Amino acid sequence: KKYQAEFPKNFLWGGAIAANQAEGAYLTDGKGEDLSDIWQHGVQGGADRPTLLNAYYPNREAIDFYHRYKEDIVYFKEMGFNCFRTSINWSRIFPNGDDAEPNEAGLVFYDNLINELCENGMTPIITISHYETPMNLIEKYGSWRNRKLIDFYLRFCETIFKRYGDRVKYWMTFNEINNMRRMAPTTGGIFFEEGENKLKTMYQASHNMFVAASLAIKLGREIMPEAKIGCMMSESNVYPNSCKPEDIFETVQVRQSSLFYSDVMVRGTYPNYVYRIWDEFDAKPNIYQGDEEILKAYTADFIGFSYYRTTTHVAGDTFYGDTGGDAGVDNPYLETSPWGWQIDPEGFRYTFNELYDRYQVPLMCVENGLGMHDKVEKDGSIHDPYRSDYLIRHVAAMKEALRDGIEILGYTWWGPIDIVSVGTGEMEKRYGFVYVDRDNAGNGSLERRKKDSFATYKAIIADNAVHI
Ligand code: BG6
Repeated sequence: KKYQAEFPKNFLWGGAIAANQAEGAYLTDGKGEDLSDIWQHGVQGGADRPTLLNAYYPNREAIDFYHRYKEDIVYFKEMGFNCFRTSINWSRIFPNGDDAEPNEAGLVFYDNLINELCENGMTPIITISHYETPMNLIEKYGSWRNRKLIDFYLRFCETIFKRYGDRVKYWMTFNEINNMRRMAPTTGGIFFEEGENKLKTMYQASHNMFVAASLAIKLGREIMPEAKIGCMMSESNVYPNSCKPEDIFETVQVRQSSLFYSDVMVRGTYPNYVYRIWDEFDAKPNIYQGDEEILKAYTADFIGFSYYRTTTHVAGDTFYGDTGGDAGVDNPYLETSPWGWQIDPEGFRYTFNELYDRYQVPLMCVENGLGMHDKVEKDGSIHDPYRSDYLIRHVAAMKEALRDGIEILGYTWWGPIDIVSVGTGEMEKRYGFVYVDRDNAGNGSLERRKKDSFATYKAIIADNAVHI
Protein backbone atom coordinates (compact mmCIF):
# COMPACT_ATOMS: atom_id res chain seq x y z
CA LYS A 1 0.00 0.00 0.00
CA LYS A 2 1.25 3.47 -0.87
CA TYR A 3 0.16 6.95 -0.02
CA GLN A 4 -1.63 8.42 -3.00
CA ALA A 5 -1.40 12.18 -3.28
CA GLU A 6 -2.85 12.69 -6.78
CA PHE A 7 -5.68 11.30 -8.87
CA PRO A 8 -4.45 8.08 -10.49
CA LYS A 9 -3.94 8.05 -14.27
CA ASN A 10 -6.85 5.68 -14.83
CA PHE A 11 -9.30 7.74 -12.76
CA LEU A 12 -12.73 7.78 -14.40
CA TRP A 13 -14.00 11.26 -15.17
CA GLY A 14 -17.35 11.75 -16.81
CA GLY A 15 -21.02 12.52 -16.50
CA ALA A 16 -24.21 10.68 -15.60
CA ILE A 17 -27.78 10.73 -16.80
CA ALA A 18 -30.75 8.37 -16.66
CA ALA A 19 -32.45 7.18 -19.83
CA ASN A 20 -35.86 8.41 -18.71
CA GLN A 21 -34.73 11.95 -17.95
CA ALA A 22 -32.95 12.45 -21.27
CA GLU A 23 -34.06 10.17 -24.08
CA GLY A 24 -37.67 11.16 -24.66
CA ALA A 25 -38.91 9.09 -27.62
CA TYR A 26 -41.93 7.94 -25.66
CA LEU A 27 -43.23 4.64 -27.09
CA THR A 28 -40.80 4.92 -30.04
CA ASP A 29 -39.51 1.72 -31.67
CA GLY A 30 -41.71 -0.51 -29.55
CA LYS A 31 -40.98 1.01 -26.14
CA GLY A 32 -43.62 0.31 -23.49
CA GLU A 33 -44.85 2.76 -20.88
CA ASP A 34 -42.64 3.02 -17.81
CA LEU A 35 -43.00 4.66 -14.43
CA SER A 36 -41.31 7.91 -15.43
CA ASP A 37 -43.73 8.43 -18.32
CA ILE A 38 -46.52 9.24 -15.87
CA TRP A 39 -44.62 11.94 -13.97
CA GLN A 40 -46.11 15.35 -14.48
CA HIS A 41 -44.37 18.66 -14.46
CA GLY A 42 -44.25 20.13 -10.95
CA VAL A 43 -45.12 16.89 -9.20
CA GLN A 44 -42.66 14.93 -7.13
CA GLY A 45 -41.84 11.83 -9.16
CA GLY A 46 -44.00 8.90 -8.23
CA ALA A 47 -47.25 10.65 -7.48
CA ASP A 48 -50.42 8.70 -8.09
CA ARG A 49 -51.14 7.62 -11.60
CA PRO A 50 -52.76 10.68 -13.10
CA THR A 51 -56.07 10.69 -14.87
CA LEU A 52 -55.72 14.18 -16.35
CA LEU A 53 -55.55 13.80 -20.09
CA ASN A 54 -54.21 17.27 -20.69
CA ALA A 55 -51.37 17.03 -18.16
CA TYR A 56 -47.81 17.67 -19.33
CA TYR A 57 -45.35 14.82 -18.96
CA PRO A 58 -41.86 16.23 -19.56
CA ASN A 59 -39.99 12.91 -19.71
CA ARG A 60 -41.91 11.82 -22.77
CA GLU A 61 -39.82 14.14 -24.93
CA ALA A 62 -37.13 15.16 -22.45
CA ILE A 63 -34.10 16.45 -24.41
CA ASP A 64 -34.55 13.94 -27.25
CA PHE A 65 -31.24 12.26 -26.40
CA TYR A 66 -32.66 9.24 -28.24
CA HIS A 67 -32.14 11.01 -31.55
CA ARG A 68 -29.38 13.44 -30.57
CA TYR A 69 -26.93 11.38 -28.53
CA LYS A 70 -24.22 11.54 -31.20
CA GLU A 71 -24.26 15.32 -31.10
CA ASP A 72 -24.18 15.27 -27.27
CA ILE A 73 -21.30 12.81 -27.12
CA VAL A 74 -19.24 15.28 -29.17
CA TYR A 75 -19.59 17.73 -26.26
CA PHE A 76 -18.69 15.05 -23.70
CA LYS A 77 -15.64 14.11 -25.70
CA GLU A 78 -14.55 17.71 -25.93
CA MET A 79 -14.70 17.93 -22.13
CA GLY A 80 -12.42 14.90 -22.01
CA PHE A 81 -14.80 12.33 -20.52
CA ASN A 82 -13.31 8.86 -20.32
CA CYS A 83 -16.55 7.37 -18.96
CA PHE A 84 -20.27 7.98 -19.17
CA ARG A 85 -23.10 6.68 -17.02
CA THR A 86 -26.63 6.11 -18.20
CA SER A 87 -29.38 3.55 -17.67
CA ILE A 88 -30.96 1.08 -20.03
CA ASN A 89 -34.67 1.78 -19.98
CA TRP A 90 -36.24 -1.56 -19.05
CA SER A 91 -39.39 -0.74 -21.02
CA ARG A 92 -37.44 -0.33 -24.28
CA ILE A 93 -36.18 -3.91 -23.94
CA PHE A 94 -39.22 -5.55 -22.33
CA PRO A 95 -42.11 -3.17 -23.12
CA ASN A 96 -44.47 -4.91 -20.69
CA GLY A 97 -41.81 -6.29 -18.38
CA ASP A 98 -43.25 -9.80 -18.60
CA ASP A 99 -42.75 -10.32 -22.35
CA ALA A 100 -41.20 -13.64 -23.33
CA GLU A 101 -38.91 -12.04 -25.91
CA PRO A 102 -37.02 -8.75 -25.87
CA ASN A 103 -37.73 -5.90 -28.26
CA GLU A 104 -34.94 -5.97 -30.84
CA ALA A 105 -35.33 -2.30 -31.83
CA GLY A 106 -34.70 -1.26 -28.23
CA LEU A 107 -31.63 -3.47 -28.04
CA VAL A 108 -30.28 -1.93 -31.25
CA PHE A 109 -30.64 1.57 -29.82
CA TYR A 110 -28.39 0.75 -26.84
CA ASP A 111 -25.98 -1.15 -29.09
CA ASN A 112 -25.52 2.01 -31.09
CA LEU A 113 -25.28 4.25 -28.04
CA ILE A 114 -22.73 2.01 -26.31
CA ASN A 115 -20.68 1.73 -29.51
CA GLU A 116 -20.68 5.50 -29.91
CA LEU A 117 -19.43 5.91 -26.34
CA CYS A 118 -16.69 3.31 -26.78
CA GLU A 119 -15.56 4.75 -30.11
CA ASN A 120 -15.20 8.11 -28.41
CA GLY A 121 -13.06 6.72 -25.59
CA MET A 122 -15.75 6.55 -22.89
CA THR A 123 -16.18 3.54 -20.64
CA PRO A 124 -19.93 2.94 -20.33
CA ILE A 125 -21.27 2.67 -16.77
CA ILE A 126 -24.77 1.23 -16.82
CA THR A 127 -27.54 1.52 -14.25
CA ILE A 128 -29.84 -1.43 -14.82
CA SER A 129 -32.91 0.09 -13.20
CA HIS A 130 -33.30 3.85 -12.76
CA TYR A 131 -37.02 4.61 -12.14
CA GLU A 132 -37.94 2.81 -15.38
CA THR A 133 -40.02 -0.10 -14.14
CA PRO A 134 -42.51 -1.01 -16.90
CA MET A 135 -46.00 0.21 -15.94
CA ASN A 136 -47.45 -3.19 -16.68
CA LEU A 137 -45.36 -4.72 -13.89
CA ILE A 138 -46.67 -2.07 -11.53
CA GLU A 139 -50.31 -2.41 -12.51
CA LYS A 140 -50.53 -6.15 -13.02
CA TYR A 141 -48.18 -7.43 -10.32
CA GLY A 142 -47.94 -4.60 -7.74
CA SER A 143 -44.29 -4.06 -8.65
CA TRP A 144 -41.55 -5.17 -6.23
CA ARG A 145 -43.95 -6.19 -3.47
CA ASN A 146 -44.41 -9.24 -5.71
CA ARG A 147 -41.64 -11.82 -5.88
CA LYS A 148 -42.38 -12.48 -9.54
CA LEU A 149 -40.53 -9.25 -10.30
CA ILE A 150 -37.27 -11.03 -9.47
CA ASP A 151 -37.66 -13.31 -12.50
CA PHE A 152 -38.66 -10.47 -14.82
CA TYR A 153 -35.69 -8.40 -13.68
CA LEU A 154 -33.32 -11.34 -14.17
CA ARG A 155 -34.65 -11.93 -17.67
CA PHE A 156 -33.88 -8.29 -18.41
CA CYS A 157 -30.40 -8.60 -16.86
CA GLU A 158 -29.57 -11.75 -18.76
CA THR A 159 -30.58 -10.12 -22.03
CA ILE A 160 -28.50 -6.99 -21.54
CA PHE A 161 -25.50 -8.79 -19.98
CA LYS A 162 -25.33 -11.12 -22.98
CA ARG A 163 -25.82 -8.32 -25.47
CA TYR A 164 -23.55 -5.62 -24.00
CA GLY A 165 -21.26 -7.50 -21.60
CA ASP A 166 -18.41 -7.47 -24.13
CA ARG A 167 -18.35 -3.65 -23.94
CA VAL A 168 -19.80 -2.74 -20.53
CA LYS A 169 -17.60 -3.47 -17.52
CA TYR A 170 -19.37 -1.42 -14.85
CA TRP A 171 -22.97 -2.05 -13.85
CA MET A 172 -25.20 -0.97 -10.98
CA THR A 173 -28.31 -2.90 -10.02
CA PHE A 174 -30.84 -0.29 -8.77
CA ASN A 175 -30.47 3.47 -8.69
CA GLU A 176 -30.52 4.87 -5.13
CA ILE A 177 -32.09 1.72 -3.74
CA ASN A 178 -32.06 3.21 -0.24
CA ASN A 179 -34.63 5.78 -1.35
CA MET A 180 -37.15 2.95 -0.99
CA ARG A 181 -37.45 4.14 2.60
CA ARG A 182 -38.98 7.47 1.68
CA MET A 183 -39.66 7.46 -2.07
CA ALA A 184 -40.97 3.94 -2.65
CA PRO A 185 -43.24 4.97 -5.57
CA THR A 186 -40.32 6.53 -7.46
CA THR A 187 -37.63 4.04 -6.55
CA GLY A 188 -39.59 0.81 -6.66
CA GLY A 189 -42.89 1.60 -8.36
CA ILE A 190 -44.67 0.88 -5.07
CA PHE A 191 -48.01 2.68 -4.88
CA PHE A 192 -49.38 2.01 -1.41
CA GLU A 193 -52.91 0.83 -0.87
CA GLU A 194 -55.35 2.09 1.76
CA GLY A 195 -54.69 0.51 5.12
CA GLU A 196 -51.52 -1.24 4.01
CA ASN A 197 -48.67 -1.59 6.54
CA LYS A 198 -46.39 0.63 4.46
CA LEU A 199 -43.25 -0.21 6.38
CA LYS A 200 -43.79 -3.92 5.95
CA THR A 201 -44.43 -3.51 2.22
CA MET A 202 -41.34 -1.36 1.93
CA TYR A 203 -39.18 -4.01 3.62
CA GLN A 204 -40.77 -6.76 1.53
CA ALA A 205 -40.19 -4.90 -1.74
CA SER A 206 -36.63 -4.08 -0.65
CA HIS A 207 -36.00 -7.71 0.21
CA ASN A 208 -37.18 -8.80 -3.22
CA MET A 209 -34.89 -6.21 -4.78
CA PHE A 210 -31.94 -7.43 -2.67
CA VAL A 211 -32.48 -11.00 -3.85
CA ALA A 212 -32.85 -9.78 -7.44
CA ALA A 213 -29.63 -7.74 -7.18
CA SER A 214 -27.68 -10.68 -5.73
CA LEU A 215 -28.95 -13.05 -8.39
CA ALA A 216 -28.07 -10.46 -11.04
CA ILE A 217 -24.53 -10.40 -9.65
CA LYS A 218 -24.42 -14.20 -9.83
CA LEU A 219 -25.61 -14.11 -13.42
CA GLY A 220 -23.26 -11.27 -14.29
CA ARG A 221 -20.27 -13.17 -12.95
CA GLU A 222 -21.17 -16.16 -15.12
CA ILE A 223 -21.76 -14.14 -18.29
CA MET A 224 -19.12 -11.39 -17.82
CA PRO A 225 -16.40 -12.57 -15.41
CA GLU A 226 -14.44 -9.33 -15.86
CA ALA A 227 -17.31 -7.01 -15.01
CA LYS A 228 -17.80 -5.10 -11.76
CA ILE A 229 -21.36 -4.97 -10.50
CA GLY A 230 -22.14 -2.46 -7.79
CA CYS A 231 -25.03 -1.23 -5.74
CA MET A 232 -26.09 2.42 -6.03
CA MET A 233 -26.97 4.49 -2.99
CA SER A 234 -28.21 8.00 -2.25
CA GLU A 235 -25.58 9.26 0.17
CA SER A 236 -26.34 12.89 0.82
CA ASN A 237 -25.57 13.00 4.51
CA VAL A 238 -27.02 14.13 7.82
CA TYR A 239 -25.37 15.62 10.91
CA PRO A 240 -26.79 15.95 14.41
CA ASN A 241 -28.16 19.47 14.81
CA SER A 242 -26.42 19.91 18.16
CA CYS A 243 -24.20 18.10 20.64
CA LYS A 244 -27.29 17.05 22.60
CA PRO A 245 -26.90 13.28 23.01
CA GLU A 246 -30.47 12.64 21.78
CA ASP A 247 -29.77 14.54 18.55
CA ILE A 248 -26.61 12.56 18.07
CA PHE A 249 -28.11 9.15 18.68
CA GLU A 250 -31.21 9.73 16.59
CA THR A 251 -28.96 10.87 13.77
CA VAL A 252 -27.19 7.53 14.01
CA GLN A 253 -30.58 5.87 13.61
CA VAL A 254 -31.51 8.01 10.62
CA ARG A 255 -28.22 7.10 9.04
CA GLN A 256 -28.75 3.42 9.81
CA SER A 257 -32.09 3.48 8.05
CA SER A 258 -30.24 4.57 4.92
CA LEU A 259 -27.04 2.55 5.25
CA PHE A 260 -29.24 -0.49 5.92
CA TYR A 261 -29.32 -0.98 2.16
CA SER A 262 -25.56 -1.12 1.67
CA ASP A 263 -25.20 -3.12 4.89
CA VAL A 264 -27.22 -5.85 3.19
CA MET A 265 -25.82 -5.47 -0.32
CA VAL A 266 -22.15 -5.13 0.61
CA ARG A 267 -21.88 -7.18 3.80
CA GLY A 268 -24.40 -9.76 2.64
CA THR A 269 -26.45 -10.03 5.84
CA TYR A 270 -29.29 -8.18 7.49
CA PRO A 271 -27.85 -5.95 10.23
CA ASN A 272 -28.93 -6.65 13.81
CA TYR A 273 -30.56 -3.25 14.34
CA VAL A 274 -33.27 -4.00 11.76
CA TYR A 275 -34.74 -6.92 13.74
CA ARG A 276 -35.89 -4.53 16.45
CA ILE A 277 -37.63 -2.33 13.87
CA TRP A 278 -39.28 -5.36 12.26
CA ASP A 279 -40.48 -6.47 15.65
CA GLU A 280 -41.78 -3.10 16.85
CA PHE A 281 -43.58 -2.26 13.62
CA ASP A 282 -44.61 -5.73 12.57
CA ALA A 283 -42.60 -5.15 9.43
CA LYS A 284 -40.55 -8.31 8.96
CA PRO A 285 -40.54 -9.33 5.30
CA ASN A 286 -41.18 -12.83 4.15
CA ILE A 287 -37.72 -14.28 3.59
CA TYR A 288 -37.73 -17.52 1.64
CA GLN A 289 -35.50 -20.41 2.47
CA GLY A 290 -32.22 -19.95 0.62
CA ASP A 291 -32.54 -16.16 0.28
CA GLU A 292 -30.04 -15.41 3.02
CA GLU A 293 -27.45 -17.68 1.40
CA ILE A 294 -27.96 -15.83 -1.89
CA LEU A 295 -27.48 -12.43 -0.24
CA LYS A 296 -24.32 -13.66 1.46
CA ALA A 297 -22.79 -15.24 -1.64
CA TYR A 298 -23.29 -12.43 -4.15
CA THR A 299 -22.44 -9.04 -2.70
CA ALA A 300 -21.75 -5.78 -4.54
CA ASP A 301 -18.26 -5.23 -5.97
CA PHE A 302 -18.34 -1.50 -5.36
CA ILE A 303 -20.62 1.22 -4.07
CA GLY A 304 -21.79 3.79 -6.57
CA PHE A 305 -23.38 6.73 -4.85
CA SER A 306 -24.94 10.13 -5.32
CA TYR A 307 -23.99 13.03 -3.11
CA TYR A 308 -25.63 16.44 -3.36
CA ARG A 309 -25.91 17.97 0.08
CA THR A 310 -26.12 17.53 3.83
CA THR A 311 -28.76 18.43 6.37
CA THR A 312 -29.10 18.30 10.16
CA HIS A 313 -31.37 16.34 12.46
CA VAL A 314 -33.11 17.36 15.68
CA ALA A 315 -34.32 14.55 17.95
CA GLY A 316 -38.05 13.96 17.64
CA ASP A 317 -38.42 15.68 14.25
CA THR A 318 -40.11 13.72 11.55
CA PHE A 319 -37.76 13.20 8.74
CA TYR A 320 -38.62 13.79 5.16
CA GLY A 321 -36.58 14.05 2.01
CA ASP A 322 -36.53 14.23 -1.73
CA THR A 323 -34.22 13.28 -4.56
CA GLY A 324 -31.39 15.24 -2.94
CA GLY A 325 -31.42 13.07 0.18
CA ASP A 326 -32.79 13.58 3.66
CA ALA A 327 -33.99 17.05 4.57
CA GLY A 328 -34.09 18.23 8.18
CA VAL A 329 -33.14 21.52 9.80
CA ASP A 330 -30.90 23.87 7.80
CA ASN A 331 -27.29 24.18 8.78
CA PRO A 332 -26.36 27.84 9.41
CA TYR A 333 -22.82 27.25 8.22
CA LEU A 334 -23.84 26.30 4.67
CA GLU A 335 -25.19 28.05 1.59
CA THR A 336 -28.53 26.88 0.23
CA SER A 337 -29.61 26.45 -3.39
CA PRO A 338 -32.95 27.86 -4.61
CA TRP A 339 -34.34 24.34 -4.23
CA GLY A 340 -33.33 24.30 -0.56
CA TRP A 341 -30.34 21.98 -1.02
CA GLN A 342 -27.41 22.91 1.20
CA ILE A 343 -23.98 22.91 -0.40
CA ASP A 344 -21.34 21.05 1.60
CA PRO A 345 -18.06 19.96 -0.04
CA GLU A 346 -16.56 18.96 3.33
CA GLY A 347 -19.55 16.64 3.76
CA PHE A 348 -18.47 14.92 0.56
CA ARG A 349 -15.10 14.01 2.11
CA TYR A 350 -16.92 13.03 5.31
CA THR A 351 -19.20 10.70 3.35
CA PHE A 352 -16.35 9.02 1.47
CA ASN A 353 -14.66 8.37 4.82
CA GLU A 354 -17.82 7.11 6.47
CA LEU A 355 -18.51 4.64 3.67
CA TYR A 356 -14.98 3.38 3.38
CA ASP A 357 -14.54 2.95 7.12
CA ARG A 358 -17.71 0.87 7.16
CA TYR A 359 -17.24 -1.27 4.05
CA GLN A 360 -13.68 -1.17 2.63
CA VAL A 361 -14.89 -1.63 -0.95
CA PRO A 362 -14.10 0.70 -3.87
CA LEU A 363 -16.34 3.74 -4.14
CA MET A 364 -17.50 5.61 -7.20
CA CYS A 365 -19.31 8.93 -6.98
CA VAL A 366 -21.79 8.51 -9.81
CA GLU A 367 -23.84 11.64 -9.08
CA ASN A 368 -22.81 15.03 -7.79
CA GLY A 369 -24.03 18.33 -9.12
CA LEU A 370 -25.89 21.58 -8.67
CA GLY A 371 -29.33 22.30 -10.10
CA MET A 372 -29.80 26.02 -10.77
CA HIS A 373 -31.64 28.51 -12.96
CA ASP A 374 -29.32 29.68 -15.75
CA LYS A 375 -29.60 32.82 -17.82
CA VAL A 376 -28.75 32.99 -21.51
CA GLU A 377 -27.19 36.38 -22.30
CA LYS A 378 -28.02 38.31 -25.48
CA ASP A 379 -24.86 37.03 -27.13
CA GLY A 380 -25.81 33.45 -26.24
CA SER A 381 -23.24 33.01 -23.47
CA ILE A 382 -24.19 31.49 -20.11
CA HIS A 383 -22.24 32.55 -17.05
CA ASP A 384 -22.55 29.99 -14.26
CA PRO A 385 -19.73 30.65 -11.77
CA TYR A 386 -21.84 29.01 -9.03
CA ARG A 387 -21.64 25.67 -10.88
CA SER A 388 -17.89 25.91 -11.48
CA ASP A 389 -17.41 26.77 -7.83
CA TYR A 390 -19.51 23.79 -6.68
CA LEU A 391 -17.58 21.50 -9.01
CA ILE A 392 -14.14 22.72 -7.98
CA ARG A 393 -14.91 22.54 -4.27
CA HIS A 394 -16.37 19.05 -4.49
CA VAL A 395 -13.52 17.69 -6.61
CA ALA A 396 -11.05 19.23 -4.16
CA ALA A 397 -12.88 17.51 -1.27
CA MET A 398 -12.84 14.22 -3.18
CA LYS A 399 -9.10 14.60 -3.63
CA GLU A 400 -8.72 14.97 0.12
CA ALA A 401 -10.71 11.74 0.50
CA LEU A 402 -8.34 10.06 -1.93
CA ARG A 403 -5.42 11.28 0.17
CA ASP A 404 -7.20 9.88 3.23
CA GLY A 405 -6.55 6.50 1.63
CA ILE A 406 -9.92 5.79 0.05
CA GLU A 407 -10.21 3.73 -3.13
CA ILE A 408 -12.15 5.94 -5.50
CA LEU A 409 -12.82 4.58 -8.97
CA GLY A 410 -14.25 7.69 -10.55
CA TYR A 411 -16.53 10.67 -10.57
CA THR A 412 -19.49 11.35 -12.85
CA TRP A 413 -21.17 14.74 -12.62
CA TRP A 414 -24.94 14.53 -12.56
CA GLY A 415 -26.54 15.92 -15.70
CA PRO A 416 -23.52 17.17 -17.71
CA ILE A 417 -26.18 18.31 -20.17
CA ASP A 418 -29.48 19.77 -18.89
CA ILE A 419 -32.13 17.08 -18.41
CA VAL A 420 -35.55 16.81 -16.74
CA SER A 421 -35.39 16.89 -12.94
CA VAL A 422 -37.00 13.99 -11.08
CA GLY A 423 -38.02 15.86 -7.95
CA THR A 424 -40.08 18.54 -9.67
CA GLY A 425 -40.28 17.51 -13.31
CA GLU A 426 -38.61 20.76 -14.32
CA MET A 427 -36.24 21.48 -17.18
CA GLU A 428 -35.25 24.71 -15.52
CA LYS A 429 -33.55 23.05 -12.60
CA ARG A 430 -30.41 22.78 -14.67
CA TYR A 431 -27.28 20.79 -13.85
CA GLY A 432 -25.55 20.88 -17.24
CA PHE A 433 -22.26 22.20 -18.52
CA VAL A 434 -24.21 22.14 -21.77
CA TYR A 435 -27.44 24.14 -21.91
CA VAL A 436 -30.54 22.79 -23.65
CA ASP A 437 -33.04 25.26 -25.04
CA ARG A 438 -36.22 23.92 -23.50
CA ASP A 439 -38.39 25.37 -20.74
CA ASN A 440 -40.71 23.98 -18.11
CA ALA A 441 -43.70 24.06 -20.46
CA GLY A 442 -41.88 22.14 -23.18
CA ASN A 443 -41.11 25.14 -25.42
CA GLY A 444 -37.74 25.63 -27.06
CA SER A 445 -35.65 24.47 -29.98
CA LEU A 446 -33.67 21.84 -28.01
CA GLU A 447 -30.54 23.51 -29.32
CA ARG A 448 -27.44 22.85 -27.21
CA ARG A 449 -24.86 25.43 -26.12
CA LYS A 450 -21.88 25.48 -23.78
CA LYS A 451 -21.98 27.23 -20.42
CA ASP A 452 -18.85 28.76 -18.83
CA SER A 453 -18.56 25.75 -16.49
CA PHE A 454 -17.87 23.57 -19.54
CA ALA A 455 -14.29 24.91 -19.61
CA THR A 456 -13.91 24.40 -15.84
CA TYR A 457 -14.64 20.67 -16.01
CA LYS A 458 -12.58 20.32 -19.17
CA ALA A 459 -9.54 21.82 -17.40
CA ILE A 460 -9.96 19.55 -14.35
CA ILE A 461 -10.07 16.47 -16.54
CA ALA A 462 -7.18 17.60 -18.75
CA ASP A 463 -4.97 18.24 -15.70
CA ASN A 464 -6.31 15.23 -13.77
CA ALA A 465 -6.20 17.73 -10.93
CA VAL A 466 -8.05 20.61 -9.39
CA HIS A 467 -6.55 23.98 -8.47
CA ILE A 468 -8.35 25.82 -5.71
C1 BG6 B 1 -30.96 11.53 -7.81
C2 BG6 B 1 -31.46 10.71 -8.96
O1 BG6 B 1 -31.82 11.27 -6.78
O2 BG6 B 1 -31.01 12.91 -7.88
C3 BG6 B 1 -31.53 11.46 -10.27
O3 BG6 B 1 -30.72 9.54 -9.12
C4 BG6 B 1 -32.01 12.87 -10.03
O4 BG6 B 1 -32.31 10.72 -11.15
C5 BG6 B 1 -31.01 13.56 -9.12
O5 BG6 B 1 -32.24 13.61 -11.19
C6 BG6 B 1 -31.26 15.03 -8.89
O6 BG6 B 1 -32.55 15.26 -8.41
P1 BG6 B 1 -33.54 16.27 -9.12
O7 BG6 B 1 -34.81 16.18 -8.38
O8 BG6 B 1 -32.89 17.62 -9.01
O9 BG6 B 1 -33.66 15.81 -10.53
